Amino acid sequence: MPFKILFVCLGNICRSPAAENIMNYLISEAGLTEDFCCDSAGTSSYHIGSPPDARMTAAAQKRGIILEGKARRFEVSDFTEFDLIVAMDRDNYRDLLSLDPEGKYHHKVKLMSDFATQHQFKDVPDPYYGGQRGFDHVIDLLLDSCQGLLDELRSRS
Ligand code: 4NP
Repeated sequence: MPFKILFVCLGNICRSPAAENIMNYLISEAGLTEDFCCDSAGTSSYHIGSPPDARMTAAAQKRGIILEGKARRFEVSDFTEFDLIVAMDRDNYRDLLSLDPEGKYHHKVKLMSDFATQHQFKDVPDPYYGGQRGFDHVIDLLLDSCQGLLDELRSRS
């Protein structure tokens, strides 16, 4: 059974689809596609059904990563469906925990920044209302933290 990872942001059109596709890229490069399965979701319903944001797609493409997917909202059933749920920022983290009032699944919910090794940050910043540089910066943070996450998961097995 593959280990299932869900990346979560607000809209599921910028940060979390980038994280999902970067993680899939790293997993594929490592020859581990049988071992891991990734998805992404948003805490909001703003962009349900939309493809990844064109600015995020352009930033990823510069690094050779194609963004695929269609936005969906996080569902409470995702707590049981996934082994690990990775929030992009502290707002997303709090919003996820509020959907689990009994705290049954808190142990599965982590912050993306927990896995970074090269960059120091708490939140993957929301790039939506900023310029292209913000999207490029998000890619840098996600490449670092997805690599750290993959390394940590591999060291566990
Ligand atoms: P994301 O970015 O959470 O990284 O997908 C955003 C996308 C849309 C909005 C905010 C953030 N919005 O307010 O519509």
